Amino acid sequence: MPILDYQDNEALGRVRAVDTANVTVAVEDVTRLRKLQVNRLAALQSSRPGQHLIGIIQRITRSASSGGARADRAVVAEGVDDDDPDDEINVVRIALIGTLIDRIGLKENVFVRTLETVPEIDANCFALEGLRLTAFMRVVANIAGDGQRLSLGHYTLDEAAGAYLNGNRFFQRHAIIVGSTGSGKSWTTARVLEQVAELPNANAVMLDIHGEYAPLNGDGFQHLRIAGPADLDSGATLDQGVLFLPYWLLGYEALTSMFVDRSDQNAPNQAMVMSRAILNAKRIYLEADGKSDVLANFTIDSPVPFDLETVLGELNELNEQMVPGARAGAEKQGEFNGKLSRLIQRLESKQSDRRLGFLFQGVAETMQYDWLERLVVRLMAGRKDQPAQRGGVKVIDFSEVPSDVLPLMVSLVARLIFSVQQWTPIERRHPISIVCDEAHLYIPERSGASGAGDISVAIFERIAKEGRKYGLGLVVVSQRPSEVNRTVLSQCNNLMAMRLTNGDDQAVVRRLLPDSLGGFGELLPVLDTGEALVVGDASLLPARIRMSPPNQPPNSGTIDFWDRWALDTAVGGHDAAVESWRKQRVQTPQ
Ligand SMILES: Nc1ncnc2c1ncn2[C@@H]1O[C@H](COP(=O)(O)OP(=O)(O)OP(=O)(O)O)[C@@H](O)[C@H]1O
Ligand SMILES: [Mg+2]
Repeated sequence: MPILDYQDNEALGRVRAVDTANVTVAVEDVTRLRKLQVNRLAALQSSRPGQHLIGIIQRITRSASSGGARADRAVVAEGVDDDDPDDEINVVRIALIGTLIDRIGLKENVFVRTLETVPEIDANCFALEGLRLTAFMRVVANIAGDGQRLSLGHYTLDEAAGAYLNGNRFFQRHAIIVGSTGSGKSWTTARVLEQVAELPNANAVMLDIHGEYAPLNGDGFQHLRIAGPADLDSGATLDQGVLFLPYWLLGYEALTSMFVDRSDQNAPNQAMVMSRAILNAKRIYLEADGKSDVLANFTIDSPVPFDLETVLGELNELNEQMVPGARAGAEKQGEFNGKLSRLIQRLESKQSDRRLGFLFQGVAETMQYDWLERLVVRLMAGRKDQPAQRGGVKVIDFSEVPSDVLPLMVSLVARLIFSVQQWTPIERRHPISIVCDEAHLYIPERSGASGAGDISVAIFERIAKEGRKYGLGLVVVSQRPSEVNRTVLSQCNNLMAMRLTNGDDQAVVRRLLPDSLGGFGELLPVLDTGEALVVGDASLLPARIRMSPPNQPPNSGTIDFWDRWALDTAVGGHDAAVESWRKQRVQTPQ
């Protein structure tokens, strides 16, 4: 069934003027003109049957007619009284954006972004509203069956029309959700994740930087937490949802960025000696475990556990080494004698830092060879009905990770997922999405200054460019799009832009909007909380959508300062907060 089945008497008006991609429509009925709004959609009769041209209303004007126009009009409607209030030119300017074709071959209702024809003078123009709008937007979003529907909310300009996206396209080719603080990104993310979690084989990892997403509960959600200082002695394990990310998972570059001070004159020596010592320690581990097949091919970047004490022992030995001198019986300092002191000192201080306990003070199981398999299952399992491999949406709470190592740890998780996807044979690959909240913190525009930041950026750039091939999608969420890495942004084919007040951020987002559609960028600063401009692969036309709140809103609730200050109750808890700070663990009041 064609979705645009207008009767002539529903027409708003008729086409008066046409140029390449714009038409001017004269509206006779002033009450209808008043109801029209800029940015709404209109459909125009095409010269070809079975087609309608679709346009966006750009300007609505009502003005007294000049003599020429009146003469013009008199031809159409003879005997017009001079005092007739209709004796005005009411015109609507419409930018044409595409064609809706009732049928191509076996496919019904196909929308194309080209103009197959232009409307003829006097062609009828109709408003695209209500159920027709819903149906049209579903065509635009490429939603064939109900299965792939991702429900967002309603169109701002037409509350009656439900707004949906094509879930395949949204996750396939990466997405970004941007907006100033408090504009509703976390709520929108939660709404999307809730629907993902309902699918029986859902697979997504949510990088929750502030621990905001704890309230998202239910069968389809798994909550994991990076171990904090208080978890170190409690013997918390993976099965309890406490994640350790042991140092041996870090690649060579990450290890050097952590231990070697690049400004040190001995840095190249230190990096070289350290890599040799780590390779050696990995070999010792593999030999002790009898993994001869791995021994033949492993590299320094292979995820093989090694004992940090072995490495430290070797470094200490070289740092103090004396070798036979030129004269018999005499000794001189070895090649690295004294050159590794700072490396050893950095290593030892990181090793004993309780804030970094999740890296260096992991429970015993993290040194077992098959622990990594268990970690990966925890992060990437699909089915939620199998207790041993609970899948769904895995929310990982990074709130206890110190900010200086956050990029390193977040990217470690991302790299793990990417590598496993790469090494999974294509027929067994299960698609997975990584949702990156507060992405500007760990996917910044390349600075070149900090080693750790660059490592993280490199991994996310790689996922943005190649992830699609391996069934790995990114959803980048940020309040500062202008600070997020450009390469990653440019690979995102879906945009949800919420209110943006900063000029730099607006400029970045405007560049992502299709240019033929202009105008929409102007809306960015005036969007209401919870409203978004949505465009991209999952929806070919930009639309302004009022997001429905999630069933389980995240913990990002805005505090009502004035109301709270107006309360008459005692406020305390500062002493407990200070003590929590010392103990590095939040104490919830009893
Ligand atoms: N769709 C919505 N409908 C109604 N209210 C909303 C909606 N989305 C957000 N809000 C309101 O706005 C507040 C802030 O939303 P949210 O936490 O999602 O902002 P944010 O963009 O993630 O901010 P930040 O960048 O600081 O994390 C919410 O607490 C809620 O009161
Ligand atoms: Mg947020």
